[in-house]
Amino acid sequence: MDRREFIKKSGVAAAGTLLDTTPFASMLAKDDKKNNGMKIVVLTGSPRKNGNTNHMADEFIRGAKEAGHEVFRFNTATSDVHSCLGCNHCGMDGPCVYEDDFTKVLRPEIIKADLVVFCSPMYYFGFSAQLKATIDRFYAINGTLHTRKKCVFLMAYANMSKKDAEAMTAHYKTIADYMGWEDVGCVIAPGIWTAGSIKGTKYAKESYELGKLL
Ligand SMILES: Cc1cc2nc3c(=O)[nH]c(=O)nc-3n(C[C@H](O)[C@H](O)[C@H](O)COP(=O)(O)O)c2cc1C
Repeated sequence: MDRREFIKKSGVAAAGTLLDTTPFASMLAKDDKKNNGMKIVVLTGSPRKNGNTNHMADEFIRGAKEAGHEVFRFNTATSDVHSCLGCNHCGMDGPCVYEDDFTKVLRPEIIKADLVVFCSPMYYFGFSAQLKATIDRFYAINGTLHTRKKCVFLMAYANMSKKDAEAMTAHYKTIADYMGWEDVGCVIAPGIWTAGSIKGTKYAKESYELGKLL
């Protein structure tokens, strides 16, 4: 894929579902077709080990494993992932100059994944820098990642305003549209601030149920 195609595809995505009303917590319907035995990659973005989004990931994974799926978890905040240099050595689909955890650990797993989970705290209305750095490294396997996959979005933030979540949700949906991945559910948790405060809330339960219902 060349640069013009990348930009063109992004434009199409922006005109697509981006303007749809974003559900606060969209879930798969119980009678949706089951996808048994999927390979799932969970990308977590929080540096807080006992934080809220890591708990959402724990609960999602618990549900997904109970449903018979295989899960590979990649904690971006504790992994060695360099920011993309934009050197274009990869040509958007080739070897990256960095031999770090993205290349050695995540790259083979995400290529074969059927479903990718983006799990991040809200940091200034966007993904955490750690998760964003990992997403940017998709560039080196951009063509290879444009296959039929599903994706999920798990996010927590301190404020109560639904509007505050719009930019991040739109970003997630635009990435999904661009990659050609099907969004199969979001759990968006407002009013969650201190580490661990998500435990026992409906958002933790919804994360588990989303994993279980896949
Ligand atoms: C650097 C930083 C930026 C943040 N930005 C926002 C923000 O823009 N809006 C908001 O409501 N909360 C914001 N928060 C609060 C976190 O989103 C919230 O505490 C969340 O539950 C953290 O999730 P975690 O425990 O998984 O790290 C911010 C927190 C930090 C540390």
